[in-house]
Amino acid sequence: MCGIVGYCGPRVVSQVLIEGLRRLEYRGYDSAGISIADSQQFTTVKKTGKIKELSAAVPEDIQGLSGIGHTRWATHGEVNDTNAHPHLDGSGKVVIVHNGIIENYEALKSKLKSQGTVFVSETDSEVISHLIAQYYEGDLEHAVIKVLPLLKGTYGLAVMHTSEPGKIVGARNGSPLVLGIGDHEMFIASDVTAILQYTKEAVYLNDGELVAMTKDGYKTFDINNNEISKQIEQINWEIEQIEKDGFPHFMEKEIYEQVASIKRAFTGRLSLDTASGHLGGLDMLPQELHSIERVKIIAAGTSYYASLIAAYLIERIARIPATAELSSEVRYKNPIVERNSLYFAVSQSGETADTLYAMRELQRKGAKVLGVCNVVGSTIARESNGGVYLHSGPEIAVASTKAFTSQLTIFYIFTLILARMRHMAFEDGLEFIKGLQSVPSHIEQILSKTDELQSLARKYYKHTNVLFLGRGLNYPVALEGALKLKEISYIHAEGYSAAEIKHGPIALINEETPSLFIVPDDALRDKVISNMKEVKARKGPLIAFAVEGDTEVAEIADDVFFVPKANELMYPFLMVIPSQVFAYYCAIELGRDVDQPRNLAKSVTVE
Ligand code: F6R
Repeated sequence: MCGIVGYCGPRVVSQVLIEGLRRLEYRGYDSAGISIADSQQFTTVKKTGKIKELSAAVPEDIQGLSGIGHTRWATHGEVNDTNAHPHLDGSGKVVIVHNGIIENYEALKSKLKSQGTVFVSETDSEVISHLIAQYYEGDLEHAVIKVLPLLKGTYGLAVMHTSEPGKIVGARNGSPLVLGIGDHEMFIASDVTAILQYTKEAVYLNDGELVAMTKDGYKTFDINNNEISKQIEQINWEIEQIEKDGFPHFMEKEIYEQVASIKRAFTGRLSLDTASGHLGGLDMLPQELHSIERVKIIAAGTSYYASLIAAYLIERIARIPATAELSSEVRYKNPIVERNSLYFAVSQSGETADTLYAMRELQRKGAKVLGVCNVVGSTIARESNGGVYLHSGPEIAVASTKAFTSQLTIFYIFTLILARMRHMAFEDGLEFIKGLQSVPSHIEQILSKTDELQSLARKYYKHTNVLFLGRGLNYPVALEGALKLKEISYIHAEGYSAAEIKHGPIALINEETPSLFIVPDDALRDKVISNMKEVKARKGPLIAFAVEGDTEVAEIADDVFFVPKANELMYPFLMVIPSQVFAYYCAIELGRDVDQPRNLAKSVTVE
């Protein structure tokens, strides 16, 4: 989604902004722009397309005291240079960048127009610069404070005024903003990746909070202009983690990182002595864990598919009723919060609007909601009632890969804890732990033969429809495999429970529509093989991800990719990896923009 970066200090402002915007590219955008303030005026450059085009259009000799930049992901108004941010007021004295949506902009715009204001863009954001200009009486903080109550909707905002060069005022409501503190320099951004190369000291703004900053310091305050003292937090990500490190794409790098990221997610959280696990962040006493009667998980997209697997696993292994629901649906269904239910909000970014708002709704109704997030300091992580970090490191590719397997890891540990408190025997706990600990080396084996998946992609990338089919714990893996393929290759793909095809999707089967079956050697294997035969009888091309040594599957399928034999509960980890790699290579064959697929954003901060 949209990204913000701002800077006050002695460096070449345009370079800091362009570099920051480049770091925000991964979030998804369609145009970008910067405004730089010298002692008298702003120089503003805006461009549709990639940051390199913006960078080429920025004059080299540009001098500045401060500046703000933005990557826009269009919501109101088409993608063009005029609609790109920053937006100025008519006199050119106020400039703003805005993330979020101003829901009442039409009413504000007509009022301003009736007073003679001329609008140049079709955006909702432009009203903000005109309003601030109207309320400005020599103090930018005051003007912003007066305007914010007029705005309905969400904003992460950064503003400058020509009369106060070198100063940026920021405000947050529903769209993240973080300050970076340097030595006689200050940064503001929607995401720490934009400022990570300059500073590790961060202050996260909460909704309703503002900041005024210059190179020499900052002041945080609320809408009533009361100063607020905020804690300075250390960013624990390294700059190398947001580089490609020799890989052609972040997605491929992140697929390979899973060997290490899964290990990181379970390290220190499993105990062979107790044959159980420990998730400190849950902050729950054993009695509280004992009294859980229901687990409910909310999430979106890939995080939702990981949550579906989690819910299956919790019911099956811990024997506690568990469900996963789309957060976008939970928010508006007036959810019932039952006693002794434990809720989880699962989100890689920790900023997904649907999940955040659903979490708040559940909390209003008395729910305890634990966060499972990757981004430290993200809104869901901070507003949840406890939780666990994935520690996957930054996930830059828009298509989520390593976060999925780390989310699974966390829920596998959580299931183990619950199961061991109830009926699971010590030996079974040890088996479960050993199974989980073997996952990274099994994934290493899978990743040593990605050439097979590349050949598979070369054979199938021209097909326009693909079905992904699996059952039980691996049914959500089929959903996730289909999502990965469609989002980065734009091949239409659907995931179904293999058992469901005869209830409709089998009508799609013909020689042109391949079906990719996920066939672990579990209790449902024979049933999945029957489903494969149903497809074969209708001449549908058959791909299978199966377990080494499964000759029966190899005989039926046109193509098979084998994963190592493992504890049967661990197959979701092992089956999702080839799905990710297959999707990656299909996208490469089709020449797609793998890391930034069209129309998609990494962090979906609008509803
Ligand atoms: C798919 C993908 C999205 C996200 C979804 C939720 O590859 O990345 O479907 O999973 O937007 O994002 P988070 O996990 O940040 O809440």
